[in-house]
Amino acid sequence: MRQVCLPEVGTFEAWRAAARGLANSQVPAQEVLWQVGGGDGDLFAGTEDDALPSAAGAPFTVPSRFMALANCVVWHRDPERFARLYALLLALRETPRLMADRGDARVSVLEVMAKAVRRDKHKMTAFVRFREIGEREAPRRRFVAWFEPSHLIVEPTAPFFAKRFGDMNWSILTPDLCAHFEDGAVRFTPGIEKPPLPEDATEDLWRTYFRNIFNPARLKVKAMQAEMPRKYWKNMPEAAMIPELVAGARQRAGAMLEAAPASVPARAARIGDRLSATRAKPAPVGDRAEFLVALQGCQRCPLWRDATQAVPGEGPPDAPLMIVGEQPGDHEDLAGRPFVGPAGQLFDRVAGEAGLDRSKAYVTNAVKHFKFVARGKRRLHQAPERDEIDHCRWWLDLERRMIRPKLILAMGGTALESLTGSRKGILKRRGGLEQAGDGTPLLVTVHPSYLLRLPSEERRQSETELFRADLRRTADLLSELSAA
Ligand code: URA
Repeated sequence: MRQVCLPEVGTFEAWRAAARGLANSQVPAQEVLWQVGGGDGDLFAGTEDDALPSAAGAPFTVPSRFMALANCVVWHRDPERFARLYALLLALRETPRLMADRGDARVSVLEVMAKAVRRDKHKMTAFVRFREIGEREAPRRRFVAWFEPSHLIVEPTAPFFAKRFGDMNWSILTPDLCAHFEDGAVRFTPGIEKPPLPEDATEDLWRTYFRNIFNPARLKVKAMQAEMPRKYWKNMPEAAMIPELVAGARQRAGAMLEAAPASVPARAARIGDRLSATRAKPAPVGDRAEFLVALQGCQRCPLWRDATQAVPGEGPPDAPLMIVGEQPGDHEDLAGRPFVGPAGQLFDRVAGEAGLDRSKAYVTNAVKHFKFVARGKRRLHQAPERDEIDHCRWWLDLERRMIRPKLILAMGGTALESLTGSRKGILKRRGGLEQAGDGTPLLVTVHPSYLLRLPSEERRQSETELFRADLRRTADLLSELSAA
């Protein structure tokens, strides 16, 4: 029996190196005992180099899907995780197509574990609540949070916080591992018991934020508890308000429906009048119907004031593909439907050539109201700001929960930012497969209006060719996912 002791930090890289060495030496899965830690409090200590077979040997490759799976599963709390992964790794050398076999129990158990880890990481990014400690006047403000993750996800989730809160020093303390971000670098220390943490003004901010984002018209207590499970409530200042907000929801929903946009541009007045008649009606029953009514009452950001109407996504309720654009344009604002103007027509043409059937997809936008500046009779498109994208993510998240697509196609920077938190490097990321916050596979491409704006015909042709290839890849992935 070989014993492999992995470090608590850098676990994935260490498992990968060890597994490769063992596989190269043909060591059967049942002869390996995996464990984490044991390095006398040294988080980075693991197996001594000479205790393992060398990673050198006949090179072998495994599908990238396996590595992505492994990089999730190693953070699961199940002590058998490393052994399961290693057994699958060995099996893949014999049967490389195994990853696509949904009927294979080894793969499906690991997929379930990976899903639990992704969900837990998502919850951590959403539910960590920082409290300010230290001097407010210090050059970098300092925050601390206590969190109790279900799985061992502190290390893989720390980069998210380093990016999102890069301008402050922070610590996230957990029973398993603590992450600290100081002067631009993350370091880890062993887990601790919950320390007493001071209340601070940030908690009031969270309560105010939650009061504002709480949408009474869309209240579904069960769905809310599924999204924000009770186990996290005790560490979230705003959770104490939930019973009170739930109790007042019916009254607030009525008020929200009455507060329809008061002024619409002259050009859109007729459509506005027609819509305000529907706004006055009580919310019809049924998720989609409720969604449509609540969306028309949206005043989460100032964009509702000038737009004619909010433009919801459209498509089959069980569409396997969700296509996300930026925001409605001039035509969409008047029609109340996404992608019906020039960008939509270009999309339809290239999608047709790529074998992607739009009518089977749910097509929507990251931002639901048209943002523009008036220039004479023309309404010129303006890109939405980050806070407008953030406010509108509420609606996109609802659509994603209603549709539950197997694959998302993010078209352009705004969609990408809304779904992944960053639009950086979109041209490098295009054509690549990423994950939305909840783990849904997400393919990145440019926005069709980007093609329309390119000044040279030659560039337009080459970029359109790349866009077509992205859509073709989307169609291929979709049939793979649907067959799986
Ligand atoms: N551009 C978008 O992003 N969405 C539309 O619906 C139309 C143009």
